[in-house]
Amino acid sequence: MESLERTAHTLLRKNRVEARGVAYTRPGGKYLWQWFWDSCLHALVWRHFDVEFAKRELLSLFRHQEESGFVPHMSFHPASLITRLFWGRPSSSGLIQPPIVAEAVWAVYEIGQDREFLRSMYPRLAQFYSFLVSVRDADHDHLFSYVHPWESGWDQSIQWDFVFGGRGPSRFNLWRMIQPFRAVSWDQRAMIARSEFNIETADGNSLLARNLIFLSRIAQELARNDEAGAWLAEAEAVERTVLEELWDGEMFVDRCVIRGGHYLIRKRTPVAFFPLLLPRLRPAQKQKLLSLMADEFLTVPWPLPTASPRESAFDPNAYWRGTTWVNVNYFVILGLWVQTEHQIAQELVQKTVGMVERSGFREYYNPLTGRGLGVRGFSWSTLVVDLLRRSPC
Ligand code: GLC
Repeated sequence: MESLERTAHTLLRKNRVEARGVAYTRPGGKYLWQWFWDSCLHALVWRHFDVEFAKRELLSLFRHQEESGFVPHMSFHPASLITRLFWGRPSSSGLIQPPIVAEAVWAVYEIGQDREFLRSMYPRLAQFYSFLVSVRDADHDHLFSYVHPWESGWDQSIQWDFVFGGRGPSRFNLWRMIQPFRAVSWDQRAMIARSEFNIETADGNSLLARNLIFLSRIAQELARNDEAGAWLAEAEAVERTVLEELWDGEMFVDRCVIRGGHYLIRKRTPVAFFPLLLPRLRPAQKQKLLSLMADEFLTVPWPLPTASPRESAFDPNAYWRGTTWVNVNYFVILGLWVQTEHQIAQELVQKTVGMVERSGFREYYNPLTGRGLGVRGFSWSTLVVDLLRRSPC
């Protein structure tokens, strides 16, 4: 473990950028900018090595927050002509990513209990989560929507195949899909209204419910009791809706909103397991999820594949279409801990750590061979350090 920690720390230091008043960790390789959920995940690891850097990385994330509360999924420090031309915006993208920043802030606060840090982050967080539960929940059903596959973080997932007829979105399609957003000058309400892609995901909304609980805890810590109560009520509403509306009888799935109607997307991916993070998951639902995990996702040597091997589109080498990712395992393990399923969690921790020890900190891995794929020296794969430090076993 010690040498794993040492190599993780060395990698994070190598990918660290500190200049012009911002601090962040590059995801690695070709990814040069600050990405939203990457930075939250980096902070979860940085807190063990250099908690001050973790705070600066989270603060930098909010540098381009807008008045509406919106926080971009990519921040360019600094922007270039290419980023400006691509996005049609000065310094950031106009999309979001999975809303895991409240838990990252709380986790960083746990080390050293810096109340000043908490005090400076709270208004930013409050604005961001208010934006999600209002603007991004345009149909007011307590589930927020993503308007582009990039927002989910699972760019090429088989979940999106129904939109693109078969093989998942091509780079060209992903680029084409941001053009209507440029046409409305990235006005978030207009984007939701116009998007051909409007998806309420089981993973995104489980993470939202979980993060609203952390936000409530932060408000409580700052003696803002009324706000703490309101965030908790919102968390419970999101949780209830995920458990009732995104359950298809067998597993949790995403839901697509088209012209006011709701349609379930029945693809077998680990998205199904994110509601394990929810404390009110029903026993019958939990049992079905554990069976699904055992029967389809734990059958490969290096789980969890991002598509079930029983899906016809499963591809053990393709980006988000069957390959194993450390951050997906991370949240499923946290969920198994919430559900006190320690034995399965431990098995998954061991396999995740084993895969990283064998193949290094890669972007993703082949679930059949454990071979590392994609970018080398990928920062969020150091999450195994946080898993080992947190493990209750
Ligand atoms: C890719 C991934 C996304 C990640 C980004 C930076 O776009 O799909 O989840 O945040 O790279 O690592």
